[in-house]
Amino acid sequence: MKTKAVERSAPGKVILCGEHSVVYGRPAIAVPVRDLRARVRVEPGVQDEGLYLVATNLKEAFAFGEASDEHPLAKAVRLVLNYLQSEEPDAVLTVESDLPIASGLGSGAAVTVATVRALSAFLDAELPRETVNEIAYEVEKIHHGTPSGIDNTVVSWESPVYFVRERSPELFEIGLPFHLLIANSGIASSTREAVAEVHRRWIASLEYYEILFNCIGALANAARAAVEQGALQALGILLNENHRLLINMGVSLMPLDRMVQAARDAGALGAKLTGAGQGGNVIALVEPESLHDVKQALRAAGALQVWHTQVGGAYDE
Ligand code: PMV
Repeated sequence: MKTKAVERSAPGKVILCGEHSVVYGRPAIAVPVRDLRARVRVEPGVQDEGLYLVATNLKEAFAFGEASDEHPLAKAVRLVLNYLQSEEPDAVLTVESDLPIASGLGSGAAVTVATVRALSAFLDAELPRETVNEIAYEVEKIHHGTPSGIDNTVVSWESPVYFVRERSPELFEIGLPFHLLIANSGIASSTREAVAEVHRRWIASLEYYEILFNCIGALANAARAAVEQGALQALGILLNENHRLLINMGVSLMPLDRMVQAARDAGALGAKLTGAGQGGNVIALVEPESLHDVKQALRAAGALQVWHTQVGGAYDE
């Protein structure tokens, strides 16, 4: 019988450049959002009562043994137990998350990664990041159908990632820390549906979409170089260009465009939607002296919440 509680956390993520085109083999870059996290605690439970799962934000609590196969939390637990060939422990596993659900910030991946790490640590067999990532990819399939794998990768490694489907992800360094504001439109968006919609349009206008994807792929390569070199003005321009192409792809919405424009007008170096689009969040790249103004502008343009995160460098809070 275990006597010690274990806690692990995992960050959210934002895609800086390359959503959707990444599904079609083009590169994308994503960075962890260390200030918005999912936290999982596993503590000893009642003897012979098995594992009890508590998802605080979803107001759900249930016995692992009674969960459906397609419940993401239960699936993560099952994959860990199978991998470690371990019996179900007598324990309580509690999930808490700062991340909004269904809005492109990697909430599902963060919950899975924190769960896998906490449960394996509780069982005295903390899994290496590669394995955590593989398990998180399997669980992502419940959320997304055919995920590219970018979410689980950036969240598992908690590092900026240059990602091309079916190739090993490349972790890369940040030349200069930078600040992002993340603004929530409050419009829930289904990645599965957005990806399916782009797929329908791609079939209908193959040549046009292939050109769009190529352009976005080129932007993602340039954005990686800009992040590595700390060329933040250039990065801002690339984010703006990426947003324009996402509008052409048909995945933006007026409320997102309004927030993007408001951020730029208030002094952001660049802004775009992030994730699947059709709702969710926009990101704005902002110099420290403009953070206050851009935050106000995003709120005035309709953002329900605006979060600040620093990417790279030491914590300054
Ligand atoms: O989970 P989201 O909303 O950040 O979307 C993932 C990005 C897509 O490129 C749209 C889909 C994918 O699997 O990469």
